[in-house]
Amino acid sequence: MGKTIIISNRLPVKIYKNNGEFELKQSEGGLATGLGAIYRQADNIWIGWPGMEVHTNESKEEIAKRLAEINLRPVFLTQEDINCYYEGFSNEVMWPICHYHPTYAKFDPAYWQSYQEVNAKFRDAVLQIVEPDDIIWIHDYQLLLLPGLIRAVHPDITIGFFQHIPFPSSEIFRLIPWRIEILENMLGADLIGFHTFDDARHFISSITRLLPVHSVSNVITYNDRPVVVESFPMGIDDKKFESMPGEQSVVDQINELKQSFDGFKMVLSIDRLDYSKGILQRLEAFDLLFQQHPEYIGETILYMIVVPSRDTVPRYKELRDEIDKVVGNINSRYRTLNWSPVHYYYRSVTPDLLSALYSMAEVCLVTPMRDGMNLVSKEYVASRTNNTGVLILSEMAGAAKELIDAIIVNPNNTHEICQAIIQALNMSREEQQQRMKKLRSVVSKFNIRHWVKIYMDRLNEVKHLQESMKAK
Ligand code: F6P
Repeated sequence: MGKTIIISNRLPVKIYKNNGEFELKQSEGGLATGLGAIYRQADNIWIGWPGMEVHTNESKEEIAKRLAEINLRPVFLTQEDINCYYEGFSNEVMWPICHYHPTYAKFDPAYWQSYQEVNAKFRDAVLQIVEPDDIIWIHDYQLLLLPGLIRAVHPDITIGFFQHIPFPSSEIFRLIPWRIEILENMLGADLIGFHTFDDARHFISSITRLLPVHSVSNVITYNDRPVVVESFPMGIDDKKFESMPGEQSVVDQINELKQSFDGFKMVLSIDRLDYSKGILQRLEAFDLLFQQHPEYIGETILYMIVVPSRDTVPRYKELRDEIDKVVGNINSRYRTLNWSPVHYYYRSVTPDLLSALYSMAEVCLVTPMRDGMNLVSKEYVASRTNNTGVLILSEMAGAAKELIDAIIVNPNNTHEICQAIIQALNMSREEQQQRMKKLRSVVSKFNIRHWVKIYMDRLNEVKHLQESMKAK
């Protein structure tokens, strides 16, 4: 068995310039936080974009050298690639389509052209280092063509593909003008994984309706090659989140937060800036809370972090402006001399502060309109070492299929979210503990190590299945 090559659009760290020097920091998003902890085993390698445009060959070499020390290989994107492949096709076509916002999609042929070119750039980066025994593990919607592009060069190599965002109903997917090319190339993989059974089911129905395949249950045979489609719900590094609240730097942060928020009940909300996350609806639910239940004025606060993301894409810019407006509106209407309802921060947070907030918050409110998995919900649960706290979770998050002891809400129903907040704030300690214990056992059993293992074991089995079919 050779090495494992992980490939994703973004590396788990990103490069930025500080006083003329290149520095590294952790990337945002579920993929980077989830797999970031485990990729540095043996001589495995992660290939991806380091997150900024780099102009000179000298800088590229310097960055490549620094990344090589931590098993990372950069694929450099030009400004044109960033505009058309990343912001364009990935985030203005695939993202809205997969999150059921087809009216936000912009089917620009220039975006498609660039998407094909950049997927080919990633293929070239893989071809430079791949050996016949290696396992190639491709991640997410930015690289849907990569399995097919690599398969064309290496017909027998092992390729896994995992999609971290939802896969939509075939009626939505088929709106994409280039749907056939996308599906054909995805089938270059041996094993195609999704977070939920429903995503896998939607993918299989797109495949069987749009391509001349033979399918038996979740095994699709295309061009005489069987490909397996299955769900593998992703977990987190539970041990890390469990141990962090005991670290001195986190304890210091908790003490600092206590000074500002002592006596108030804290509801925590944390997401990347994204219209799929239901941030405005969540604010509306809070507005309702203070409007209809003024007893919570001066008592409860919403601590809301929105991590900057894709803010050069028009929809994201608009959303940011709208959030500013709505937060300002709520705060100006309900604020008192020594209390503000919404503490809103538009910035990244350090791991220490994040852990302190997870420990402090009586309630964590996770209400995406659509989410492949949502790891924040699992991180909150893992951080609650004394088994208290309440998770309110959208039924549209993949995590809701596993975290059934959360209070589950429809993110479009702001009255229901408002009621859930009231239920959570008044929940007895016994009930909190009963629920949290069950949630914690799910999160610790199905953690990130388990996820990697079951995916890799299955990939291995699929290769054996293919070999036995070939031999017949
Ligand atoms: O988890 C979904 C995902 O889209 C990842 O593919 C991505 O790295 C992350 O969210 C953050 O998005 P972006 O890379 O566009 O900042």
